[in-house]
Amino acid sequence: MTTSLALPATLPGQPHFAYRDGELFAENVRLADLARLHGTPLFVYSKAAMLAALAAYQRGFAGRHAQICYAMKANSSLGVLQVFARAGCGFDIVSGGELARVLATGGAASRVIFSGVGKTRAEMHQALDAGIACFNVESEGELEVLNEVALAAGKRARVSIRVNPNVDARTHPYISTGLKGNKFGIAHERALDAYRRAAALPGLQVAGIDCHIGSQITEATPYLDALERVLDLVEAIEAAGIPIEHLDLGGGLGIDYNGETPPPADALWAQLLARLDARGFGQRQLLIEPGRSLIGNAGVCVTQVLYLKPGETRNFCIIDAAMNDLPRPAMYQAFHQIVPLLRHGAHEPAPALWDVVGPVCESGDWIGRDRALATHPGDLLAVLSAGAYCMSMASNYNARGRAAEVLVDGSDATLIRRRESAEDQMRTETLLP
Ligand code: LLP
Repeated sequence: MTTSLALPATLPGQPHFAYRDGELFAENVRLADLARLHGTPLFVYSKAAMLAALAAYQRGFAGRHAQICYAMKANSSLGVLQVFARAGCGFDIVSGGELARVLATGGAASRVIFSGVGKTRAEMHQALDAGIACFNVESEGELEVLNEVALAAGKRARVSIRVNPNVDARTHPYISTGLKGNKFGIAHERALDAYRRAAALPGLQVAGIDCHIGSQITEATPYLDALERVLDLVEAIEAAGIPIEHLDLGGGLGIDYNGETPPPADALWAQLLARLDARGFGQRQLLIEPGRSLIGNAGVCVTQVLYLKPGETRNFCIIDAAMNDLPRPAMYQAFHQIVPLLRHGAHEPAPALWDVVGPVCESGDWIGRDRALATHPGDLLAVLSAGAYCMSMASNYNARGRAAEVLVDGSDATLIRRRESAEDQMRTETLLP
């Protein structure tokens, strides 16, 4: 439960967002000023927070042959991609649309890897044309189709097979991906045969192996378990005469939404690298695909209270952000802290308990339940940890335009996406004659 009185000056997990004289800032920019200028709901990202999250991985990999491929499904806004591209990241993509976004920002196709269970022939073609680094193949059927598409294009596709290590990431079932019952990857037992097939197909070039076991993982053990199983497989594949250049250990590291304590990226990698060294794989090329841990706590969503609706059983605080902007609570019962932009210190009025909900016509449209807030219509609130899987999952449900986005860098704030208008939403449609 959140009480504004109990909040420290900085926010848990989000040190680049802090109160100064009772007002919430992103780096050196007052969030209320941004809300006045651009309206609400408004996503605000801190560039310093993004680079600090990335730096933890870079420290972890110092002296190693490693490439960080930002899993852009977490947040694919062009300005966000530019920050990561300029800092040396490649990208993990899952669609032709994501590839087009990377190319639009000037990101290098040679640092792009393509994951996903349902790549179409058209997307394979597009990726081969662009010259991406590797396809992470998720089924035997995909191997055959990719081979055909590559041969027809006169190319050889570099592939890595995503193996499903059957490891429990101990996270929400909707975001666990490395268990036998998940649709992802090729089962551990079938992987060696799949590699033999891939090595025999003339349109394919075996490059690596990969696995991704889930998202919002808060402990090291599932990674260590998955690593051992992947290395067992690499030994078997190489014993069959198929060299594996790179190991891709996916993404999935969690963040602090509400007191979770995932290992810092550098500490996690120290443990994983120790195992890799012990098993003689320390000098292999490493790839990783982090998403949430790079951007999740670098963003907040600023929203305004529209109405307070106290009731007999529940009190509703109706805000102007909704499940179309912040889908995670409705989809995964996810928790995001909600805090006021303005704190009154010792004069803080007594909070009441509110269900914070949006204007969308669905009972599932809630952003937080039972939140202790002293708030009034017109007040501005920030929904925290909203950098990942919010804007990228936003929709136009109820014909609501997508929110605007601002990237803060020190004292500078750049509007990286203007608010979507009704005309924007109707642009692709045609009226009947
Ligand atoms: N690589 C692959 C193959 C993935 O499937 C994913 C995420 C990632 C990397 C990045 O995982 P991360 O580091 O962000 O955990 N919408 C959900 C999360 C879905 C994650 C799907 N795959 C949420 O809001 O919690």
